[in-house]
Amino acid sequence: MPQSMSTTCDVVVLLSGSGGNLQAMIDSFKGDEQPVRIRAVISNRADAFGLQRARDAGIPTHVLNHKQFEGREAFDAALIELIDGFAPQLVVLAGFMRILTPGFVERYAGRLINIHPSLLPAFPGLNTHQRAIEAGCRVAGATVHQVTVELDHGPILDQAVVPVLVDDTPATLADRVLTQEHRLYPRAVEGWLRRG
Ligand code: GRF
Repeated sequence: MPQSMSTTCDVVVLLSGSGGNLQAMIDSFKGDEQPVRIRAVISNRADAFGLQRARDAGIPTHVLNHKQFEGREAFDAALIELIDGFAPQLVVLAGFMRILTPGFVERYAGRLINIHPSLLPAFPGLNTHQRAIEAGCRVAGATVHQVTVELDHGPILDQAVVPVLVDDTPATLADRVLTQEHRLYPRAVEGWLRRG
């Protein structure tokens, strides 16, 4: 269940890549008496730069290589065991490039959140910025949502909107959206806590 703002909420972050959103949370929640404590960062990729960001911040890191498991069920079972060792109130997906099994999603129902680089329900899935440009969208953005079994379809917690400019490429639009993601995600986590 969501926590009241008067207690510290233990969070585990899952990522596969750069960890810009992790860094935004580290920066937002650093210092004493913060509402959020990042207990661990877990990556399915050993070369994820997000792991280095975590280490630099003194946060324990773990690598769970999905290629070393027979299938999604086995990987997710090991992931659950690892996560539950930290007893987090909230599990935060921050660029975790794995499709999760229904069992995993159900285990953390209501306390598993994700950030997606589009204004959901538009453009679930990959290549969101290219698709937004091709569709002629005048605005784009990012969405923080609760994770449900259907990919990129859970209840929306918060969104950030940016303009799409006439000369945008997917890369320039991605940069603009990412800047807003880094404001949005910490804010959405605090909002999730407050609503508890
Ligand atoms: C972000 O665009 C996020 O919306 C998506 O994956 C990307 C992660 O970026 N889910 P970073 O690793 O946090 O920099």
